Amino acid sequence: MEIKKHRARFQEARAELEAKTKESARASQRASESLALEVVQTVVMPHPIYIESAEAGRLTDVDGNVYIDLTAGFGPNVLGNRPEPVQKALAEQIERGWHFGIHNTRQAELAELICQAGACAESVIFSNSGTEATMYAARLARAYTGKTKVALFDGSYHGVHDYALTKAAPNSPRSQPAAASLGNGVPKLIPDQTMLMLPYRDPATFELIRRHRDEIAVVQIEPVQSSNPRLDSGDFLGELIEVCRKNDVLVLFDEVITGFRIEYGGAQEYYGLEPDLVTYGKAIGGGLPVGAVAGRAEIMNCFTGKDGAPFIFCGGTFSGNPLTMAAGTAAVTAMRDQKDTLYPYLHEQGSRFREAVNRYCAQEKIPAQVMSAGSLLHLFFQPGAIQGQRDIVHQHREIEAQFYLHLINHGVIIPGIHVAFFSGAHTTSEINQVIEAFKASFEALRDDGAF
Ligand SMILES: Cc1ncc(COP(=O)(O)O)c(C=O)c1O
Repeated sequence: MEIKKHRARFQEARAELEAKTKESARASQRASESLALEVVQTVVMPHPIYIESAEAGRLTDVDGNVYIDLTAGFGPNVLGNRPEPVQKALAEQIERGWHFGIHNTRQAELAELICQAGACAESVIFSNSGTEATMYAARLARAYTGKTKVALFDGSYHGVHDYALTKAAPNSPRSQPAAASLGNGVPKLIPDQTMLMLPYRDPATFELIRRHRDEIAVVQIEPVQSSNPRLDSGDFLGELIEVCRKNDVLVLFDEVITGFRIEYGGAQEYYGLEPDLVTYGKAIGGGLPVGAVAGRAEIMNCFTGKDGAPFIFCGGTFSGNPLTMAAGTAAVTAMRDQKDTLYPYLHEQGSRFREAVNRYCAQEKIPAQVMSAGSLLHLFFQPGAIQGQRDIVHQHREIEAQFYLHLINHGVIIPGIHVAFFSGAHTTSEINQVIEAFKASFEALRDDGAF
């Protein structure tokens, strides 16, 4: 794929976007003067789009342009933007105060819902992010087992603490990947001495677990990897749990994305599987910052030292704060009450979208494909089967960036990392508009000679 030099359609789209997003350009200039990095992201060409307000499946930017929102707040907004029960719960909690640092009854309300929903959740602790949740889960597993290593998979994402930044060294063998750190600032001893990298959806994993059973405290896995969303990993996950049980290794499902999104009971419910521990985030906060660790009571006892369990430290000024708990409880309650219609709808719309785009790409010979797992969607600019992260090639970055710019111009926003989400608030007609926007954006690229 090579783009023609003049790129007429792209230049046209860029000029149109610049003309209608002047306030965003000003906001971007202002932000660059005081912020080292704006951690939230949208496509950065010609500048980020700044959002003023949100409602249901849509976002309005500071210039008044309205977009269909496929960001869903990086995943949490399973019910869409500003769902009424969450807004009401927030307003009520604000009337009473939003941060005490002293016991409040809100934590138990959300914990009870999580315990009822998650197969292995007998008790819960709250944190402020998914990153903190996976950090605590690693500490918990290490204390409980007395072993040091955390095993994780090639292509996984578990947040931004030093352990989570362990990735597979790109040139290491596919079936025996080496652990390396993503970027500077992480001590080399972390990947070298405290982590073990496993090959995703590859039976070689089971032999590596058997071989390192005396060192591995826990195997942590995203039951659906956001880097290549799919739902056909049930057998692999089932065997993983079986092998770990036989070898005295704990299994953690990192359900920060999949919890309350793939099904109400997360991937545990979808696959009918019961790990030892689970981490949550995103959806359980109703759009406010949150994380949680849940699991078998015997393991969770380490947070208190109850029944002689090895005590671990845990804290956080804002962990379990009443505002987040109120929002989370309202959101999870609404998801529970709608679960018989919400989750079938999300699966149906995700599949419908994937099939429509993939059919179009096949017909038009466009070398791109959508992968999906329920309402979690990912577009790849390459044809052919993708089994895992190792199959993903990023050789068309310029074309990808241009595609997302065209998409914004057609009124659809997908975050910079290009993982997209549908929510229960997206109507079928909005999803049809997204399909048409994808087709029009592919066409513009083709006119510019990209395919
Ligand atoms: C599977 C998984 N684990 C952990 C995290 C980290 O969560 P947070 O961004 O809330 O720190 C993420 C975030 O996307 C995630 O997808």
